[in-house]
Parts: sequence; C-alpha cells; structure tokens
Amino acid sequence: MARIVLSSDHAAIDLRQAVASYATAKGHDVIDIGPTTPESTHYPVHGKAAADKVASGDCDLGIVLCGTGQGIMMAANKVPGIRCGVCTDTFSAAMIRAHNDANMLAIGARVVGEGLALEIVDAFLGAEFEGGRHATRVAMIEGETA
Ligand code: RB5
Repeated sequence: MARIVLSSDHAAIDLRQAVASYATAKGHDVIDIGPTTPESTHYPVHGKAAADKVASGDCDLGIVLCGTGQGIMMAANKVPGIRCGVCTDTFSAAMIRAHNDANMLAIGARVVGEGLALEIVDAFLGAEFEGGRHATRVAMIEGETA
C-alpha cells in the first residue's frame, strides 16, 4: 500500500474527495491536503504543494486534480523529481507507471466522470515500473544520462 498525497483546485473538490475515499477504502494511506472550501483558487499552488510532498519522500505517490488536469500537472512537473501525467483512460494510467515511472497522476474533473476517474486511479496504483530499458529513458528525462 502507498502513502498518497491528494490535492486539487476548486474545480475538482468533489472528485478529489471521492478519490480520497476510494483510495482509503483500498487500504492506502491518503494525505488529502485540500482545499476543502469551494472558493476559486489557484491550481499552481496546490500542484506544487502535492509535488513537494512526493519529491521530499514524505509521500510515495500523488494524485492531483483540476478542471482539465492539465494546469495542475504542469505545476507539479516543475518540481524536480516529479513525473506527472494527465490521464483520461486506464491504459495510459497504467503505462505512465510501468514505462515512465510516474510518481504523480493528474485527472480533469471536467473531463472524466467519477466512475472512470476511479478506474484510472486503480490502473495507476495497480501498475509497477518495469525498469530495464525504461529506466534508461526515465534517467534521460531526469538529465542523468545523455
Ligand atoms: C479553473 O477554472 C480551471 O482553469 C482549472 O481547474 C484547470 O482546468 C486548469 O488547468
């Protein structure tokens, strides 16, 4: 089981809370850092806050949500060591773990419904990094090899 940080902006509070309940019920240790009130807020703040928890090692994985998933994904990826992908399908959600060693998942609450979102979460959390040639490529992303 993983220690998972969750955050979102105002556009995805309900879906974030559904993801939190789902992941908790699956046995994961969920750290939901909000926000909890519906006022308009700024996704870069919340993306960075979640990414910092993963980059520091405080959490194993992160799941971030905004309207499209795109803005909060971009913010998370600015933190060194973070590899975050937006997913709208389960295949991609598994593959960003298996091939890209993604440590964060982004979901758009205005793009996918709750049922699909939870399947995407399942696919992401259920996959494992395959290593091998993929490790070489991930190291290249991180600037560790030419
Ligand atoms: C907020 O209206 C919206 O721009 C935000 O949730 C997200 O979709 C940005 O990428």
